[in-house]
Amino acid sequence: MTISPGLLESAGMFAQLAVPTAHRWVVIADAAVTARHGDAVRASFADAPTWLDVPSGEAHKTRDTWAALTDAMVAQGHGRDSAVLALGGGVVGDVAGFVAATYARGIPVVQVPTTLLAMVDASIGGKTALDIPGGKNLIGAFHPPSAVLADPLALATLPEADRRAGVAEMLKHGIVADAAHLHHVLAHLDALVRPGAEATVAVVECVAQSAQIKASIVRDDPYERGRRAVLNFGHTLAHAVEAATHYAVRHGEAVAMGLVVEARVAELLHVAEPGTHHTVRDAVRAAGLPEGPPDGISVDSLLSAMRTDKKGRRGQLRCALPQRVGTMASREDQWTHVVPDEVWAAALGA
Ligand SMILES: NC(=O)c1ccc[n+]([C@@H]2O[C@H](COP(=O)([O-])OP(=O)(O)OC[C@H]3O[C@@H](n4cnc5c(N)ncnc54)[C@H](O)[C@@H]3O)[C@@H](O)[C@H]2O)c1
Ligand SMILES: [Zn+2]
Repeated sequence: MTISPGLLESAGMFAQLAVPTAHRWVVIADAAVTARHGDAVRASFADAPTWLDVPSGEAHKTRDTWAALTDAMVAQGHGRDSAVLALGGGVVGDVAGFVAATYARGIPVVQVPTTLLAMVDASIGGKTALDIPGGKNLIGAFHPPSAVLADPLALATLPEADRRAGVAEMLKHGIVADAAHLHHVLAHLDALVRPGAEATVAVVECVAQSAQIKASIVRDDPYERGRRAVLNFGHTLAHAVEAATHYAVRHGEAVAMGLVVEARVAELLHVAEPGTHHTVRDAVRAAGLPEGPPDGISVDSLLSAMRTDKKGRRGQLRCALPQRVGTMASREDQWTHVVPDEVWAAALGA
């Protein structure tokens, strides 16, 4: 991964260097990002790429979008010697990544994340996905990017709520693997969410640290056969909240709720040391992120949404849980724990 202020202006050139075999390029971009940064990226290619916009928002991370994009690529005559550059947040990264994973049985993808969440998390690790009515990310593939190019200056146009959503995944990285990172992020919250501070040393350092934590966990377990599952901390509940609210909350906001609730689950199951839940809750609170599901979402609706999530095995809900901040609980390389319905209900305060 390369993080450098101003990198968008040479994204095409770096992508071509990363994939020298690609003769043609397709840029799959979030329409809102095209409006703000499209000209700079377009001008960074030696030859004009095919430019395909995706409307903004989780509602477009669908099979219909995948079909429209792949049809357009066929119409433009793209073949196995083409490559994809994904320009946008996690939504476009996931869709464009899945297009690349499946087009002509797989062509290279370069991720150019433009949200904080995508820079520290979604662009790294090779997971690509679509949402279907049955659940979030249920269709997908592992398709690691040939390069990840992050320009912190792109964050200048990102709304504050989307910046905070990105902080949620950074807190997660601290909780699952590095307590010092959690404190570092909390110490620099202001710079992370304040427009104008995008390229400060503090922001670039926090982003790089968070991305490195994710990358090192993925490197050891790329196909999630073991420890990579710790990166799903907070996500069993998060995906259920996203589904139950029809994606009315941002992914990062749902993750923040999941961190707090699943930390409480860990204490109720005596997996986590006492105090872990409060430390996690205080961090989420300090970041100005929500601590629990919105009013009106019943425990039953969350439980049924969780059952369709891919982490439910043999009807049992399993979660990666912390032992303490900075360390996840494991037994004999088993990184997930069965969480009975009554424990979810208690953790959700029912
Ligand atoms: N593949 C993975 O490993 C992984 C990991 C974490 C999250 N995800 C996925 O990522 C998605 C969430 O990502 P996200 O938070 O980036 O959401 P997003 O892609 O929807 O982007 C958030 C908003 O910011 C706008 N935007 C993007 N860049 C901008 C910029 N530079 N300036 C102004 N506006 C900009 C978008 O139009 C959108 O409205 C979810 O679908 C989640 O499942 C995937
Ligand atoms: Zn996530």
